[in-house]
Amino acid sequence: MIPRINGNVQMRDGVICIPNPITIRNDFTEKAVHAFSERAAESGFQSETAENGFISIVKNEVLEKEAYVLSIRKEGIRVEASGEQGVIWALTTLQKKIGQNGSVQAETVTDAPRAVHRGLHLDVARHFFDAGEVKRIIEQMSLAKMNVLHWHLSDDQGWRIESKRFPKLHETSADYYTQEEIRDVAAYAGERGVEVIPEIDMPGHTRGILAAYPEYSCSGKKTGLAKAGGVYRRILCAGADKTYKFLEELLDEICPLFPSERFHIGGDEAPKAEWKSCPACGAKMKEQGITSYEDLQGYFSVQIAEILKKHGKRPILWNDSLESRIRPKDMQMQYWSVDYNKPSAEYIAQGGQWIYSDMFELYLDYPHAMTSVKKMYENQIDLGSCAYDAKNSPLGYEACVWTEQITTVEELEKRIFPRMYVAAELAWCGAGDYEEFEDRLRDEMKETEKRGISITPYKDWNPEGQKRQQEASAFMAAMHAKPSDEEKGEVAESSEMGEDFQKKLLSRFFQEEGKCEAFY
Ligand code: ACM
Ligand code: ZN
Repeated sequence: MIPRINGNVQMRDGVICIPNPITIRNDFTEKAVHAFSERAAESGFQSETAENGFISIVKNEVLEKEAYVLSIRKEGIRVEASGEQGVIWALTTLQKKIGQNGSVQAETVTDAPRAVHRGLHLDVARHFFDAGEVKRIIEQMSLAKMNVLHWHLSDDQGWRIESKRFPKLHETSADYYTQEEIRDVAAYAGERGVEVIPEIDMPGHTRGILAAYPEYSCSGKKTGLAKAGGVYRRILCAGADKTYKFLEELLDEICPLFPSERFHIGGDEAPKAEWKSCPACGAKMKEQGITSYEDLQGYFSVQIAEILKKHGKRPILWNDSLESRIRPKDMQMQYWSVDYNKPSAEYIAQGGQWIYSDMFELYLDYPHAMTSVKKMYENQIDLGSCAYDAKNSPLGYEACVWTEQITTVEELEKRIFPRMYVAAELAWCGAGDYEEFEDRLRDEMKETEKRGISITPYKDWNPEGQKRQQEASAFMAAMHAKPSDEEKGEVAESSEMGEDFQKKLLSRFFQEEGKCEAFY
């Protein structure tokens, strides 16, 4: 089973047969047992509520937020937890332990995660994946006890949320989720213990917005959706008051779709070229006494954070945002790039909350040649003591899937599986012996395949030698392909960096194997 129990398993005598129907007494809301009942039904077991249920689910306020105790005895099964997520994880463990014949070993399991944030980031802007596929991935996450889907819903290549207030947004991008679908996905995730955090990346990576409403860029000139990956010069104007008014109306519409108390506002890779020649940006800096363009981005983020606060939400920002000395007070930082190393270290030293998503270790769109199963498993960071309110605390791990080069569901799933399970294990219980983990991972992938999910075959988990070099080089070349003539003037970096840059980046991937990047 993955993740491994992060506590105790006390074996008892006997094997218990699960009755059909399964009767349940539940101190929590129906939401806590909903996924269990659905999964049981798929295996032919009905479930119903009963005062003296075979499964008894009781509140134990002493337990930590997601912790649980699961006692499997002849007389019945008892689940103790302080919150709904604890119940969901207990029932997930139970379900994984029940054999084909409907029986389960008597035992008592005490379990709790080491990290409060166990996430998967999914980019649906570069390539769109429909709500059904997003739900399929959420179900796999829940079975791995992961608790955050970070849903990257806008970028230079597309905007993916139906907007009744600004309909040109979704009309321009064509593929999008209706508001009803978004609410449905968030509710489905909630029943599986998964928080859905939306990301509207800004002020950079915003051609998805500006293709529909170019008036919110510095020049106001017409632009289109980006046709390739990379970093683009066209970004939101941080000087014009109308930009903030637009974003406020937009966020007022979007925030209520998501129950999460967090909202990712991106902040990565925002080139400042357009701001430098913009009278409105210049005037805003003068008005606010801002002396650098990085700080202007900080000012922008603070304005957005104020809008989120109205909706009871706090912002998450990629670590590039720390280049600014002006920052939202209640932010969380998501660390992805060593290129912004120094401010990250200072932020962490000052007690800032952060999520670990190092691109060299946790980017699942990179091929196994660059981020193998073994490498991921062996690069474990020290999480220290974890709680949302803990000082100086990494909240946990988030694996990221960017989709510049992923166009099909099969390819998407193969990139995610099995490697999402590595992140799940690191975040729940931490790494142990690789060989032992690999055996469990192979078993887990057999079960995953039975659910119709495409997985990377075992032979390709840890490529070696020439095969590996070729696979990695081919990916890098495609990632940094030259932009079309039409797009050339729009591209700021990355796609224009050439072969030397690709080689340098590749050598970093290969060198950094087997050791965790120490940046803090
Ligand atoms: C990122 O990969 N630009 C967060
Ligand atoms: Zn401007």
